[in-house]
Amino acid sequence: MKTVLITGCSSGFGLATAQYFLDHDWKVVATMRTPHEDVLPRSGRLRVLALDVTDADSIRRAVETAGPIDVLVNNAGVGMLGALEGTSMEQVRAIFETNTLGTIAMTQAVLPQFRQRKAGVVVNVTSSVTLMPLALLSVDTASKAAINAFTESLALELEPFDVHVNIVLPGRAPETRFGENAQPRMQGAIPEAYADLANNVFAAWAQSTAVTTAKDVAEAVWRAANDPACPVRMPAGADALALAGSR
Ligand SMILES: NC(=O)c1ccc[n+]([C@@H]2O[C@H](COP(=O)([O-])OP(=O)(O)OC[C@H]3O[C@@H](n4cnc5c(N)ncnc54)[C@H](OP(=O)(O)O)[C@@H]3O)[C@@H](O)[C@H]2O)c1
Repeated sequence: MKTVLITGCSSGFGLATAQYFLDHDWKVVATMRTPHEDVLPRSGRLRVLALDVTDADSIRRAVETAGPIDVLVNNAGVGMLGALEGTSMEQVRAIFETNTLGTIAMTQAVLPQFRQRKAGVVVNVTSSVTLMPLALLSVDTASKAAINAFTESLALELEPFDVHVNIVLPGRAPETRFGENAQPRMQGAIPEAYADLANNVFAAWAQSTAVTTAKDVAEAVWRAANDPACPVRMPAGADALALAGSR
């Protein structure tokens, strides 16, 4: 029976992916900054562990406690929508600490066991915003595009060890708490000079009907975990697939 460790399982894609792997008879190490056992149904195949991907000690403890795993899913992430002029460098650093450095640090922490066993898969959840530039998402996009490039280089480096590294690129998913969780970071992020631009961006979003569901993401992560022949980049969700197809 295989084991997956997933970051950011308290809600959204991480929670849905943990449930999906449990439903498919895997052992699941569901990690969260603040562990809540009750977000997932009780199962002998489920362990809930504390993990903050921005904290080196927390990463070491979680990886040690989890023991051998077959798949790591770097899903934890934070969003930021705003003009660069309205975003402090402290906020920029915080986004990169979680989305970019957190993913790199988690990957580094599991590689020794994957390389020694000559087996293992890392799935990095980035974003379809990296497929087409969008206004007011420069920092968010940069933090995720860095992981796309990181993953594609690392995939080549790990080929000799039969370790696979993949990217899942979800589209916009209004059903998750992503937008709500980003709100506190967005106070003052749209200065008056950018108000018209922001209104146009929001109006365009309101018209777009194709969206991504948490199930779309769970299915793409599942494929990455189980199909060694799958492409390194996998868009997830109707909007992400349309964007990828138009490039
Ligand atoms: N929803 C979208 O529209 C969308 C689109 C494209 C890509 N994505 C990406 O998909 C991933 C999941 O997003 P989601 O939509 O499921 O959003 P979500 O519901 O806000 O989930 C994000 C998860 O990341 C966790 N997290 C945040 N900072 C963390 C840290 N330092 N250490 C560990 N966990 C941390 C959150 O935990 P807490 O409860 O502790 O905050 C939460 O469980 C993110 O990487 C996001 O960038 C989302």
